[in-house]
Amino acid sequence: MEEKTIDLRPVNRIVSEYGNDKDSNLIAVLQQTQDKYGYLPKQALKEVSRLMDVPLTRIFGIVTFYSQFTFTPRGKHAIKICSGTACHVKGAEDVKQVVKEQLNVVEGETTADYQFTLETVACIGTCFLAPVMMVDEKYFGKLTTDTVAGIVDKYSGEKT
Ligand code: FES
Repeated sequence: MEEKTIDLRPVNRIVSEYGNDKDSNLIAVLQQTQDKYGYLPKQALKEVSRLMDVPLTRIFGIVTFYSQFTFTPRGKHAIKICSGTACHVKGAEDVKQVVKEQLNVVEGETTADYQFTLETVACIGTCFLAPVMMVDEKYFGKLTTDTVAGIVDKYSGEKT
């Protein structure tokens, strides 16, 4: 499926901020580009290739090598539900089920409005708060099937 045409001006800005030293700045440019669009659109990668004079094949090689990069559009908010042992024992599966139904997605999916991407992650190191989820960089602990829906609702109601 063909991507819709995107505004490439941010790519120009990012490359000019970092300079076009391809060896030291390419990964940083790709990270910033992904932060800007939420993923790495092919048009943006072609523009990075053109501006930095780096073969597109090399860029694709880097993007596919590092798991932090994605070609798939992601939601504005990343919801990560811990599936570690402590969280599992304290009901993480039930919590996750509520979020899946609320957002109408399965794990790894992004909602149709691109507001949320739902992921399951291994122990995130705050077992004393089990069951835990993160929304972007923020932790929410001691979740119940009642409280989790309200948290997701709060993010849903945010203006973009
Ligand atoms: S098991 Fe979930 S935070 Fe450790």
